[in-house]
Amino acid sequence: MRLQGTMRINAAGHLEIGGCDTVDLARDFGTPLYVIDEALLRSNCREYYDAFTKENSNDLVIYAGKAFLVGAMSRIVAEEGLGLDVVSGGELSIALSSGFPAEKIFLHGNNKSPAEMLYALKSGVGRIVIDNYFDLETLEKLASQEGVRPAVLLRIAPGIEAHTHSFITTGQTDSKFGFTLANGDALNAVKIALASNDIVLKGLHCHIGSQIFELDAFRHTAQVMMKFLKEIRDELGWTAEELDLGGGLGVYYSDGDNPPSIKDYAVAIQSSVDDCCQKWGYPRPSLIVEPGRSIISPAGTTLYTIGGIKDIPGIRKYVAVDGGMTDNPRVALYQAKYEGLIANKADMSAQEVVSVTGRCCESGDMLIWDLAVPKVEPGDLLAISCTGAYNYSMSSNYNGLPRPAVVLVKDGSADLIVERETYEDLRRRHRIPPRLLGTCRQKG
Ligand code: LLP
Repeated sequence: MRLQGTMRINAAGHLEIGGCDTVDLARDFGTPLYVIDEALLRSNCREYYDAFTKENSNDLVIYAGKAFLVGAMSRIVAEEGLGLDVVSGGELSIALSSGFPAEKIFLHGNNKSPAEMLYALKSGVGRIVIDNYFDLETLEKLASQEGVRPAVLLRIAPGIEAHTHSFITTGQTDSKFGFTLANGDALNAVKIALASNDIVLKGLHCHIGSQIFELDAFRHTAQVMMKFLKEIRDELGWTAEELDLGGGLGVYYSDGDNPPSIKDYAVAIQSSVDDCCQKWGYPRPSLIVEPGRSIISPAGTTLYTIGGIKDIPGIRKYVAVDGGMTDNPRVALYQAKYEGLIANKADMSAQEVVSVTGRCCESGDMLIWDLAVPKVEPGDLLAISCTGAYNYSMSSNYNGLPRPAVVLVKDGSADLIVERETYEDLRRRHRIPPRLLGTCRQKG
């Protein structure tokens, strides 16, 4: 397992994160446990801040909360000077209740409810990103009712497929997100927004996908969006103040992943936009980016206790842990590949190859296939790295498993930032109608 951030192997031969021995963390907080390396998280935020906002003070980095958003995370993001992208009233409430400045919050979503829009309007969020005609109409109506004129971006589907090895420019026109560029919907939406007295159109938004390694995909997107802005100016005489190019920078999960640096990503986008502006004499819009994964993924590690081991000689050795697809659904969902380490035997050399399976009642509940480890025994502690993004936020209570706790580690201290769920939490909202409370039928 590649050691991330402040990870090191200490004198006891244990994996340490943020100066905390993971064996102690497991003892004190139980497993499964999400551990967040605060120093690495902050340094990722700063890299983004420096690469964008430092040079162009009008540019803005907004952290995509969908990757991982809890109160403490929201505080750190605010302290580091980033804005925040939320996609629901729930995320908005987490951010606002932690004191996140409303004016630096962007509300996204392809099907925001009127209640969520109203919540955003009343709390004075900085931008609402309009995804479709229904969004547009709903927001205009609500804004007029409320007597406010919200600043908006229009989400455009630029028709770029970034997930094929060499991206193509037609694939993603078939997308549920945004106004389609290719068929004229995008231009039509701009016209409606500009004519509206209820909203103020600040610029355009797009997001081409996630876990992207090819900078050319981002360059190309920037060019396509700038070209569209130029066409709008030519036709309507309007110039955009802002261009939001979404998130998507890929990260290292396992051997073979080779993501570009944040700095290189920033340069790729900025130079593409600058070139277009120069070529067409277009005033440079403020750039906005929305990274999620590349800020939080490497800062997160999950700790598990190993339980049952099933050896099928000549076939496979299954090592089961006390979590699984409930705390990390990404392996089952996307065939994601992770690296792991036996945290209490971190200095020992590999002796066997095992496959790590979760505890859910599904054969697909695997965490790592073919992991080289020292001799493992029940009670050993397994660390899986780079689990910070889209693990806690996509976790579930499948099989009645309470969600794990989350601790924030830094300089040898560990703070609980999300409590472990209890059985009581699982039952809290259940209601049994009185008519079901009669005596149960006896045998016979
Ligand atoms: N902006 C928008 C509009 C997005 O839809 C997303 C991610 C982001 C920003 C942040 O993208 P990032 O920098 O994190 O790549 N559950 C999947 C990932 C879904 C991404 C959804 N949108 C996973 O676990 O891989």
